[in-house]
Amino acid sequence: MSSQIFSSLQPAPDDPILGLNELFKKDARAEKVNLGVGVFLNEEGKLPLMQAVAEAERRLLERGAPHGYVPMSGIPSYCSAIQKLVFGADSEAVLSGRICTIQSLGGTGALRLGSVFAREVLGLTKAVVSDPTWGNHITLFKHAGLDVAKYPYYDKATGLVAFDAMKAALKGLDTGTVVLLHACCHNPTGVDLTHEQWKEVLEIIRERDLFPFLDIAYQGFGDGLDEDAFAPRMLAEAGIAFMVASSCSKNFGLYGERTGGLHVVTPNAGEAAVVQSIIKSIVRAEYSNPATHGAAAVSEILNDPELKAAWVDEVTGMRSRIHQMRTLLTAEGEKLGVDLSFAARQAGMFSFTGLNADQMIALREKFGVYGVNNGRICVAGLSTKNVEYVAKALAAVR
Ligand SMILES: Cc1ncc(COP(=O)(O)O)c(C=O)c1O
Repeated sequence: MSSQIFSSLQPAPDDPILGLNELFKKDARAEKVNLGVGVFLNEEGKLPLMQAVAEAERRLLERGAPHGYVPMSGIPSYCSAIQKLVFGADSEAVLSGRICTIQSLGGTGALRLGSVFAREVLGLTKAVVSDPTWGNHITLFKHAGLDVAKYPYYDKATGLVAFDAMKAALKGLDTGTVVLLHACCHNPTGVDLTHEQWKEVLEIIRERDLFPFLDIAYQGFGDGLDEDAFAPRMLAEAGIAFMVASSCSKNFGLYGERTGGLHVVTPNAGEAAVVQSIIKSIVRAEYSNPATHGAAAVSEILNDPELKAAWVDEVTGMRSRIHQMRTLLTAEGEKLGVDLSFAARQAGMFSFTGLNADQMIALREKFGVYGVNNGRICVAGLSTKNVEYVAKALAAVR
């Protein structure tokens, strides 16, 4: 091949959020605050190593197992444990074996496997995502060959779900459209559907014969581990076919270990087995075998009742910290006479501040408070030490 082959290439644009981190690192101001990141930080502004994970890792190391290949579909004890985590141990769908769960490279890997399965195997061609959504949903679905459109989701004026518009859009979709739905802790808005709204969405899914793809990346960060899984559990109970991409990145703090799962809910165990064999062949072509370490640690935790209880407590602590930061930011706003109640109303790691790109840039340049230009801040980047400063900065750029 000629050595000119690369010469006309243009660099791909930087990821806007990762680019923010670089800017943050270079900022010399002592008072700077990073609210751009998508990771859970503790009160000290550090990414914590969860104690349950550290204990699981200690046990794994002590056992000294060799580093063999994991089956293409993943570690069986991990797959069954995360399936129960998402759908509930006593779920009929779990007990009857009609869910196929495949270990994946994080939630992203599950979205990748699911979208390839939808496009190449099921022959579906269209997908819709919420407006706005996590940017990678669009990139990923397009990369799998799906045509991607958006359904209205966030109402800027009210700061709530634009539910009537969302329903109208879903009702207008073609049969077999893949509908990406955030199961909880919507990224980037922090605004979730209520249980009643989920039920209405289910009816439309049934009427239009749509194919839901639920993304649950923040289970446990909203209202609780079981509470946040309301949507996948309701859909499983309803007996429709759908997929779920779940992630252990946030609730186990295993970001870099690429630990997640794709769950395909089918009508019966026979079909689940067929789907499993097909997705295994996709795995074979994509990366052959999943990564071991994170899944082995999660399996160790979820299959030991004592360690699992300790992990549940830690997740509860993380959720409480997020709630506390939301309450504090709102209260600081009240002191300043500025309405920051969006923080208390929304759920999960992210919030939409309602600020526009110019205001977000001003926040960064004048105050060293780093959020995403679409107005998103990561609430887990707040602490009792910086929340007053951040509230003042938010008030100043409004
Ligand atoms: C909504 C949403 N889905 C999926 C993911 C992917 O997570 P993972 O790191 O497990 O691939 C993220 C990560 O930020 C996310 O915010």
